[in-house]
Amino acid sequence: MAIHVIENGKVFHLQTAHSSYQIGVDAYGYLLHLWYGSRIPAEPLLDLVCKADIGFSGNPYEADLDRTTSPDTLPMEFAGYGCGDFRESSIAFLFPDGSKAADLRYQSYEVLSGTVELPGLPSAYDTPEEPCETLILTLQEKASPVTVDLIYGVYEQQDVITRSVRVTNHGQEKILLDRCLSCSMDFMEGELDMITFSGRHIMERTPERVPVTHARSEICSLRGMSSHQENPALILCRPETDETHGDCYGLAFVYSGSFMAGAQMDQRGQTRVNMGLHPEQFCWRLQPEETFYTPQVVITYSGEGFDTLSQQFHHMVKEHICRGEWVHKRRPVLINSWEAAYFHFNREKILELGRCAKELGVEMLVLDDGWFGKREDDFSGLGDWTENQQKLGGSLCSLAEEIHKLGLKFGLWVEPEMISEDSDLYRAHPDWALTVPDRKPIRARYQLVLDMSREEVVEYLYQNLCRLLDDAPIDYIKWDFNRSVCDVFSRAEKAFQGETAHRWMLGTYSLLARLTARYPKLLLETCSGGGGRFDLGMMCYSPQIWCSDNTDAVCRMQIQYGTSFFYPTSTMASHVSVCPNHQTGRTVPLETRFNVAMTGAFGYEMDFTRLTEEEKQAIREQIETYNELEPILREGSYHRLTRPGGRWMSWEFLTEKAEKALVFAVVTESEGNAVPIRIHPRGLDPEKRYFCAELNRVCSGQTWIQAGILVDPTPSQYESKRFLLQVVK
Ligand code: DGJ
Repeated sequence: MAIHVIENGKVFHLQTAHSSYQIGVDAYGYLLHLWYGSRIPAEPLLDLVCKADIGFSGNPYEADLDRTTSPDTLPMEFAGYGCGDFRESSIAFLFPDGSKAADLRYQSYEVLSGTVELPGLPSAYDTPEEPCETLILTLQEKASPVTVDLIYGVYEQQDVITRSVRVTNHGQEKILLDRCLSCSMDFMEGELDMITFSGRHIMERTPERVPVTHARSEICSLRGMSSHQENPALILCRPETDETHGDCYGLAFVYSGSFMAGAQMDQRGQTRVNMGLHPEQFCWRLQPEETFYTPQVVITYSGEGFDTLSQQFHHMVKEHICRGEWVHKRRPVLINSWEAAYFHFNREKILELGRCAKELGVEMLVLDDGWFGKREDDFSGLGDWTENQQKLGGSLCSLAEEIHKLGLKFGLWVEPEMISEDSDLYRAHPDWALTVPDRKPIRARYQLVLDMSREEVVEYLYQNLCRLLDDAPIDYIKWDFNRSVCDVFSRAEKAFQGETAHRWMLGTYSLLARLTARYPKLLLETCSGGGGRFDLGMMCYSPQIWCSDNTDAVCRMQIQYGTSFFYPTSTMASHVSVCPNHQTGRTVPLETRFNVAMTGAFGYEMDFTRLTEEEKQAIREQIETYNELEPILREGSYHRLTRPGGRWMSWEFLTEKAEKALVFAVVTESEGNAVPIRIHPRGLDPEKRYFCAELNRVCSGQTWIQAGILVDPTPSQYESKRFLLQVVK
């Protein structure tokens, strides 16, 4: 049993294999956050709440002469607005009389087995092997007929808790929900650091660690996408926490649009952490008897550092977020036409690429941008999802069939949520683009964004994508998204603009849900100029995401390192490209590019028709090696052995029973008279003996872990090594 209701229904203790989470109700009905951390017995902790008369922190009216209770100092589980808690709020209502408030008091609870569906939103699922129990705590807004349900999903053995919120208007009048986050908690004690994953296009998800202080530390996106700039996930940890020691908490948002997340210490040294829809782009009409659901947040705690936290997230993503038959299936090694030909191809070029690919052992050809409408560059064509037969030398179907005849699968690029002004779609429906009346829209890559909040737009895209998928044998879709969303204004008849941003995201999700339901065998890779929508929301529909437009192996290592804190390597599409690299101009050995790319969903992105015989032979051998290592790369656990900034980077894959470990090392900086590089693998069975063919050496797991591996003593810059350690039977 994961949910314990104790203290006459006043304390709720969520118990997982290694963590406990406790919530309690105080004498005035405030819902308090009492504990989240290592597993402790289900005993009430209400006495830990410090009650004191604190200046300038007022008391609830009903407290009368008791000045020791203040909503401003209590460790809240979900914070109201305008009613005595002056810290950042979780929720706020605009009432018909013009007042803005939220005073939430506990009303009742319910325990359910299974998960609660969040209509229209992606969320975690459970399975018979790994079930979820749900606790719903209902809070009543003190002066109005509104209830707020806090929904907790507990995955006991996985050490994971999910949170979301359901708000219902039981009254007769419309109310505006002006702000509604998905999760907040007040940690009662201790110093905390916050780690966020920031970046930019072509350099995503670089970890940044800062101490949580009284100044609010917040990340957010107002781009209508989770963004390259800030990933919707954060870690809170003790200052001493590292990969293998210490307390840490991970929070990740199951959402792909604008968001906010952050932490701040209050006057009493408590830390409030928040995550949810960005309030600046949100104001929802709650009509009588209507309910609003927030997106979900996935939370986990590790008392053993970031490695364990990542393992818990990786497992959660693979078993409870990603869906469909491809999650655990071997993905085809692919060649993508983008960096091979960009917009400049014809049928013969694609077929030639396919023939070379087949000869090298590649399994799928992906035709990227440029195959449809009038699309010779990025100025036109988006929205017209009909093939350019002239350019393709015939129908898309005939090309796909020819690729199939070569013995390859066929994949296709689309960018459904966008529209070019120079397109038949725009000429027919200019009002389908997001633009604000009397303002010129922002163009990005010369394109505008379709109004996905409109049902007819979603329907148009659904029909067009179904037509493509029905007319041609397409095995894989790359779903791109190449600009931030602004001019958020819907021209739909009954649109209420405070809702447009979130309704826009719901429109995209409904399209993704319908398509993935209709084409369950399709392998869907999402993308947003690389990693601009690398989030749990997208992962509910696509088991892999193009990790970054940066294919430089050295940058990629860093990007994949940051990405790995929350997301498993099976979600990170990663390709070998040519050198000098198209994004950075850097030259890195082909073997290193291979080692980095195989750490994700693997493929190539280069013009195979221009390779030398030597390069072709190397790639043939790479694919053979990949085929041998693929099971451990796909199903093994991934461990970060170093962090960026040093002379080398190293990481490891380990099979479930620690029978094999695959260790990588890449030299990032060469030095004169270099100090030797030693790598210490993790997770081997200390009692067992492991053989490493590359070193022709056998020793115990204990020795490999403690004494380490000595990498070539004089490695040159960007050179890489791979070591496979296997248990000796
Ligand atoms: C951005 C993607 O990330 C690239 O891989 C490529 O598909 C281009 N868009 C095509 O326009």
